Amino acid sequence: MPFRYSAPPWWRQAVFYQIYLRSFADGNGDGVGDLAGLRARLPYLKALGVDALWVTPWYTSPMADGGYDICDHRAIDPLFGTTEEAESLLAEVHDAGLRVILDLVPNHCSKQHPWFRQAVSEGPGSPSRDRFWFRPGKGPDGSRPPNDWPSQFGGPAWTRLTEADGTPGPWYLHLFSHHQPDLNWNHPDIRADFAHTVRFWLERGADGFRVDAAPFPVKNPSLPDIAPHASPTQLPYRDQHQVHEIYRALRALTDSYPGSHFLIGEVNLPTPAQRARYVRTDELHCTFNFPYLASSWEAHKLRQIITDSLPADKDTPAQAAWVLSNHDTVRHLTRYGRDDSSFHMDGTFVDGPLDTNYRTGFARARAAILLTLALPGPAFLFQGEELGLPEVEDLPRAAVHDLAGKQPNTPAQGRDGCRVPLPWSEDTPPFGFTTNGTAWLPQPSSWHGLTAQRQEADPASMLRLYRSALAWRSCHMPSLPTTLRWVDLGTNVLAFARGAFLCLVNFGAHPIPLPRETQVHLTSSPLKERRLPQDASAWLTRSGYPAPPSLSHDGTKSS
Ligand code: NOJ
Repeated sequence: MPFRYSAPPWWRQAVFYQIYLRSFADGNGDGVGDLAGLRARLPYLKALGVDALWVTPWYTSPMADGGYDICDHRAIDPLFGTTEEAESLLAEVHDAGLRVILDLVPNHCSKQHPWFRQAVSEGPGSPSRDRFWFRPGKGPDGSRPPNDWPSQFGGPAWTRLTEADGTPGPWYLHLFSHHQPDLNWNHPDIRADFAHTVRFWLERGADGFRVDAAPFPVKNPSLPDIAPHASPTQLPYRDQHQVHEIYRALRALTDSYPGSHFLIGEVNLPTPAQRARYVRTDELHCTFNFPYLASSWEAHKLRQIITDSLPADKDTPAQAAWVLSNHDTVRHLTRYGRDDSSFHMDGTFVDGPLDTNYRTGFARARAAILLTLALPGPAFLFQGEELGLPEVEDLPRAAVHDLAGKQPNTPAQGRDGCRVPLPWSEDTPPFGFTTNGTAWLPQPSSWHGLTAQRQEADPASMLRLYRSALAWRSCHMPSLPTTLRWVDLGTNVLAFARGAFLCLVNFGAHPIPLPRETQVHLTSSPLKERRLPQDASAWLTRSGYPAPPSLSHDGTKSS
């Protein structure tokens, strides 16, 4: 058989940058980020050195859940721009040599979606109700929810409908907020419409998709109560076997288009075996590595998670993308400065502003990005982490938009603390985010030192560290082995080699000497006599490796 070399797909080692559109950059002066703002900032993203963008939902929506409540998956919300602008953006991203993936939300739509409005207006018994999960309530007057399923945002996953004539009707299922009715994937319209959406965006140049809430679209059809002794890994509304048919069909559809497309799922499930089923060869390519995101800043925990995440077979790519933060989590710089630096993925959000030590968090965030970018496989950055933005923990209650902030037992700012618009320039809010004086969420005035403009000019800034790391990675890491070998430098040090390349992270209180006969390329904090301080990391190569000019901790060439 003739030898065939097939290059690894583009996403195998790609670094993605998550654009949370409302908060990235405003181009039309209404205080909300949009397509015009994103297009204007493409040179910034190119200079940063990422390979691809993930754009969060830009579809028409009442924005009850920041756009994850969709009315039309094939139209751009006027808040963000027009379909023509989206097409231009896709072309411009490609011209810049980058790729772009879009969000797909299969589990639910908006209460304002024409299908749901039709289901409400056509009344009991109408076939239009079969696209959703309408069920009578329990009890003689139907006043109790049909089962005990909880909404991911708290409270029951059911809301009782008021019929057009004002009488109480059946209940409808919503695993997220009551603004987001769950779609019934047994209905052929749902499958056909989803495929239509996928084709629509592939034909406009999308390079792939991020699938929202991937384990949820299929339910146990008898909608049973959660058994009192059920294992937390097996729930009747999540990770049902038939859900995989959806991803097989999605994969077959994207594979039928020319080019290489990337599918990544939001698969937040408790066991590795459950998560692995979503990345079988005919399903999604990848999931997010939420255990890595959620881990506390502790060497042994991170080592275990990394070990468990790497495939045993060296030819299989990492099946989960490394990620430290996203638009649903407390920013890692803030978490890493807390006594409990883990993130609780159960939706309760860790609240602990009082114990945050920002100096520690800042050093660890710098160390963490060098660790993350040294690992084999794709990585996702969340906008603003390259500026070292902390979580905003004191948003005035009246300013909060996130519906999660309105639930009991969640911090009042919900997830808005990580969604505060980016500071680009100037010394006072809105820091160049918008031409209008007001951004949709207030930015702390203390962010004047964190603007992109300021950090570009400061060789020791977080932004310059990210740029240096991304530049070195794209130049030198593609040729490194995709397996890693742990190097034992004591329990407080996480150290691994990929061929002649070494990554070291010091978690301990004492500076550690760097291994002899190594060349230093990048460090997250300045070295003291070739010693790596606490909460710092270093990229090294063993002598003899054909090495590039070194970059010191501040990103400037040093030899
Ligand atoms: C996950 C998204 O990341 C989150 O922002 C959203 O609220 C839920 N899915 C529901 O769509």
